[in-house]
Amino acid sequence: MSDTIQKYRDYVITGFMKSVVPIVVDRASGAVITDINGREYLDCFAGISVVSAGHCNPQVIAAAKRQMEKLVHCSSYIYHVQAVADLADKIAHIAPRGLTKTFFGNSGAEAIEGAMKLARLYTGKHEFIALHASFHGRSWGALSVTGNMGRKKRGGPYAAGIAFAPAPYAYRSQWRDDPEECGRQCARAIDDVIRFATSGDVAAFIAEPVMGEGGIIVPPANYFKEVKKVLDKHGILFIADEVQSGFARTGKMFACEHYGVDPDILVTAKGIADGFPLSAFTTRPEITAAFKPGDHLSTFGGNPISCAAALANIEFMEKENLCARATETGKYAISKLRELQKQNSIIGEVRGRGLMIGVELVKNEQLTPATAEAEAIRESLLRRGVLVGVGGVFGNVIRFQPPLIITRPQIDQALSMFAEALQEVAQPAAV
Ligand SMILES: Cc1ncc(COP(=O)(O)O)c(C=O)c1O
Repeated sequence: MSDTIQKYRDYVITGFMKSVVPIVVDRASGAVITDINGREYLDCFAGISVVSAGHCNPQVIAAAKRQMEKLVHCSSYIYHVQAVADLADKIAHIAPRGLTKTFFGNSGAEAIEGAMKLARLYTGKHEFIALHASFHGRSWGALSVTGNMGRKKRGGPYAAGIAFAPAPYAYRSQWRDDPEECGRQCARAIDDVIRFATSGDVAAFIAEPVMGEGGIIVPPANYFKEVKKVLDKHGILFIADEVQSGFARTGKMFACEHYGVDPDILVTAKGIADGFPLSAFTTRPEITAAFKPGDHLSTFGGNPISCAAALANIEFMEKENLCARATETGKYAISKLRELQKQNSIIGEVRGRGLMIGVELVKNEQLTPATAEAEAIRESLLRRGVLVGVGGVFGNVIRFQPPLIITRPQIDQALSMFAEALQEVAQPAAV
């Protein structure tokens, strides 16, 4: 056993899933990770949807190095730092309409907590509505609005004043063949949730425009417009959790753009800085005004190196048009996966936007989740040198979320390995 693995066993607290193929990562470049033995892996998970501009993107690294030689840290206590200002300025120009002011933190969960706190201060209200199958992070407040027992178990009880509405998950709804009706009914259900499960003191509705951990659930096209009508009627803010879907991942800079709806607070992390730790929430000036001096701060938040890296990352995305690239590569991958679906009855649905793609595996027409098979496919792919994720409330969705710079030949290689893994694990469809 390698020294590194032994040290992990002895000294590191991890939340590792069980894996029969332990990897010690040495280095990475673009969409390829190399282990300490020199074996290469094609990375189709991008460090949980993070390194969108590719591992160790030279332009991002150069910007980080330049910053590192000048200033590593001084906190946002009473000081101003150019890298922070430049990044906030950039985000104000690419964020949904009206969202011009940004608070920087370190992790997605931290940004969710901050956004929830601000929503309560601004509205003077205290409750939240969240979705079944959602995931918002591992801190207590973020878990309180997470709609998935798999993530919450052994951590309860959670915060009071949180009510859950059905996820717009057409495939597992009674409107499987009519997503628009699913969108309409799920939005209407929010009205009922407000009436029957809250005290009418709701500060915000929080949702992921594409639900990542829940299994790459893509809400129907009409869903958020319908939701917004309900929220506006009750004076409830919309917090869009774009921690996973933000920064070109879905083929738009932010996934809410697909829905023609502007959130009141946009929460981002993961893809913001190509792997440097950074998160943000961005909102309208009048909402931020609810924060009084001293109300909110994070020692490491807005780290100058991470901010410099983030700015270079966004500039790279714009220069290389990663939105268009994610759209094209995503369409190609989805069409190839749908071809595979025709020959493999275990594939219940292929869905996604851009390079946020989920393949839901089922055992039969009753959609019994093929959970063990999904795990076996991940392991099989790992042995073949391809990294993917597994998600979904039933743990039966294979997640393809590679760096957005992944090439066609690399996608073809990953898909042909996936076809082999399917053959190994699942029964081919009866003809
Ligand atoms: C939608 C969403 N929100 C929040 C989080 C939490 O982010 P972090 O792990 O950086 O705290 C995640 C992480 O997977 C996420 O997918």
